[in-house]
Amino acid sequence: MLRAGGLVAFPTETVYGLGADVLNLDAVKKVFEAKGRPSDNPLIVHIADAKQLEDIVDEMPEKGKTLAGAFWPGPLTLVMKRTILISDLVTAGLDTVAVRMPNHPVALALVRALGEGIVGPSANLSGRPSPTTAQHVFDDLRGRVDVILDAGPTTIGVESTVVDVTVEPPAILRLGGLTREQIEQRIGKVELGTGGDFAKRSPGTRHRHYAPRASVLLVQAGDADAFARLLQAHRQLGKKVGCIVNSPLLAKLESGDYFRVLPSSKDILARYLFRTLRELDGLSLDVIIVEGVEEEGLGATIMDRLRRAAEV
Ligand code: TXA
Ligand code: MG
Repeated sequence: MLRAGGLVAFPTETVYGLGADVLNLDAVKKVFEAKGRPSDNPLIVHIADAKQLEDIVDEMPEKGKTLAGAFWPGPLTLVMKRTILISDLVTAGLDTVAVRMPNHPVALALVRALGEGIVGPSANLSGRPSPTTAQHVFDDLRGRVDVILDAGPTTIGVESTVVDVTVEPPAILRLGGLTREQIEQRIGKVELGTGGDFAKRSPGTRHRHYAPRASVLLVQAGDADAFARLLQAHRQLGKKVGCIVNSPLLAKLESGDYFRVLPSSKDILARYLFRTLRELDGLSLDVIIVEGVEEEGLGATIMDRLRRAAEV
């Protein structure tokens, strides 16, 4: 199907991707169309073998090599200078390309079988939470994707961490499954990009993201008073309110169909985050109130996604 220019959704350890042959520009165009993705938001190229980098990347900086050696295959995407073999369509006209080696046997087998890199944005409609199950892909892209490979729910549940290694110090353009702490342990200080200049370098962060249809309200970790006040206020307005909490304190607040308690372990919380947002969103709620987490390690990624989901 990929060779024929089709679109194949595939599992990775982070989220499901919407795959096309990186060298087939008609197929790459279809990826943007299927997602409703703005053409100024570049795609990640998935590889299965470091040798494939020769055709894709012009120059691999030392710190990029260190990170790839430590974390590939895994939830790390490296932004590097591209070769002329990589189309402007893939990179949205940038002179860099984002590359990742996913840690999933199906994704790796797919890249190996094709023998080329596979472009793979998250397989959701643009702006929606990323898909962590094949069903999510089907819900968003039914009729727009040729094949969905179902390997069950993804284990990490949030996307890869995108690191620009063309600059010094390297810059995290998108927090993800690999933490800032893990990265800095290997290559020392990195910048964390938000707003301004970074929005230009990481086009994806300009656009609305991770948003359920219901409006999302974010409450500080453990703030039971604020949570209860918001819940009551919206109910009094006649709104249908869903809740996602993770601390034992807030778990005692309520129960019922629209109330979800996630584990306080950040790994597991991240795994279930998008799934839970999508699930509650399927219940036609007006508002979803979400309890935040402490902002360290994977907690910083979780808070990044929640803030974006809560943006209006
Ligand atoms: O975990 C993941 O990364 C998943 C799985 C399927 O691999 N893919 C994914 O792709 O999340 P996508 O397209 O949804 O997000 C890619 C991010 C976007 O924010 C995009 O702007 C950024 O990477 N990106 C891609 N190429 C870039 C480049 N050359 N420079 C800066 N940012 C880039
Ligand atoms: Mg995405």
